[in-house]
Amino acid sequence: TAALPEGYHMRPLQRTDYHGIRSVLSVLTTVGDYNEDEWHERFDWMHKRNQEYFVVVITDKNDKLVATGSLIVERKFIRSLGSVGHIEDIAVAADQQGKKLGLRIIQALDALGANAGCYKSILDCSEKNRVFYEKCGYKLAGIQMAHYY
Ligand code: ACO
Repeated sequence: TAALPEGYHMRPLQRTDYHGIRSVLSVLTTVGDYNEDEWHERFDWMHKRNQEYFVVVITDKNDKLVATGSLIVERKFIRSLGSVGHIEDIAVAADQQGKKLGLRIIQALDALGANAGCYKSILDCSEKNRVFYEKCGYKLAGIQMAHYY
């Protein structure tokens, strides 16, 4: 796989990323109201479960957080106690799209999933992102259902 643009790096999400992650996730959806302490509480909760929650980020040459994505590894009773990877919350800053950062995030999450023993990874997306995920190697499989509370 090709490299990231020069000066860009991929790494796990860190406890100091509160402002950066809020900013990059805002291209995806409403991030909502919470303060840094509340974010740290959620970060620590996930970090304790770091064989289950994998959040990666890409930083640019100025060390600004410009892309993120998550993998949640779900352990199952079927498929000989297999695991399924759930790809979630993929976001690339608006002015950084089209540089293959989204593709690199998906490739990294796929590798983490395979390494964790997942037999597949799945995700939900809108029709407008279908071609992007096809280019990442994903295929249409079923429909998404949601029940909002
Ligand atoms: N429609 C068609 N093709 C696309 C699209 C699109 N919307 N987006 C990317 N592609 C293509 C690119 O042209 C490229 O093709 P190529 O290899 O032939 O040149 C390939 O897909 C890889 O594109 P990247 O440059 O890696 O895409 P980018 O870094 O811009 O990331 C992403 C794509 C994540 C969809 C980004 O545009 C984004 O953050 N959008 C807003 C938030 C969002 O919708 N996130 C996904 C939600 S679904 C989920 O999280 C599971």
